[in-house]
Amino acid sequence: MIRLFVNVDHVATIREARKTIEPSPLKAALLAEKAGAQGITIHLREDRRHIQDEDVRVVQKGINTRLNLEMAPTQEMVDLAFEIQPYQVSLVPEKRQEITTEGGLDVCSQERALSKIREKMQGKGVLFSLFIDPDLTQVDASQRIQADSIEINTGKYTELESPKEIERELERIQKSAKRAAEQGLKVFAGHGLNYENVKAIAAIPEIEELNIGHFIVGQAIYGGMENAVTEMIRSIESGRRLRI
Ligand code: PXP
Repeated sequence: MIRLFVNVDHVATIREARKTIEPSPLKAALLAEKAGAQGITIHLREDRRHIQDEDVRVVQKGINTRLNLEMAPTQEMVDLAFEIQPYQVSLVPEKRQEITTEGGLDVCSQERALSKIREKMQGKGVLFSLFIDPDLTQVDASQRIQADSIEINTGKYTELESPKEIERELERIQKSAKRAAEQGLKVFAGHGLNYENVKAIAAIPEIEELNIGHFIVGQAIYGGMENAVTEMIRSIESGRRLRI
């Protein structure tokens, strides 16, 4: 079964719109867990636009599953992750002006720096993951620096409209997943996934874990967090049965 990690960043986005204490990312995380999520993801961004440092501590302490902390490969973030020691750290690139993460990490151009972070994290027993585009050169570089896993960026796949282009991007994702698994990397995926487009991703046999946030939090407004997570798990399972 694919593990679903629910990203609760946008619960904090609503709270930060008023700089108040509600809604609570921890409460949302606990509801997601109740509905079957195997983990919780939060993304601490440099500008702290949604998740705050204290949220990382509160969520880590309060949840019953596992915390995947997404962050940029900066000294500040590495120090915080070193202190908090989540279950897993996922490195993502960050440009201040972007609305959301716009592309994967360029692992090839910073192998030495990323290797150092990897050593530091694994030394504390924290799993080390890299968010990359579906590109074999990035997969190979991730293997060279001995990451535990990669998270394949599905953002482009979810934005394309032409069926041919979608097919081509899915092929890139499949090939990257296969290559990574052959090299001993665990394979995760995420970004832009919803009840429908998740199915073809869930059908890729190497993929073990999905990170999904924006769509689930949006659906939770209409029908509650537990229903949104239950429905997403149902979609993932129906996609898994299609196995490519
Ligand atoms: N994976 C990574 C690395 C991300 O940065 C995000 C967004 O924070 C996600 C997955 C989840 O994407 P979405 O919110 O579109 O489901």
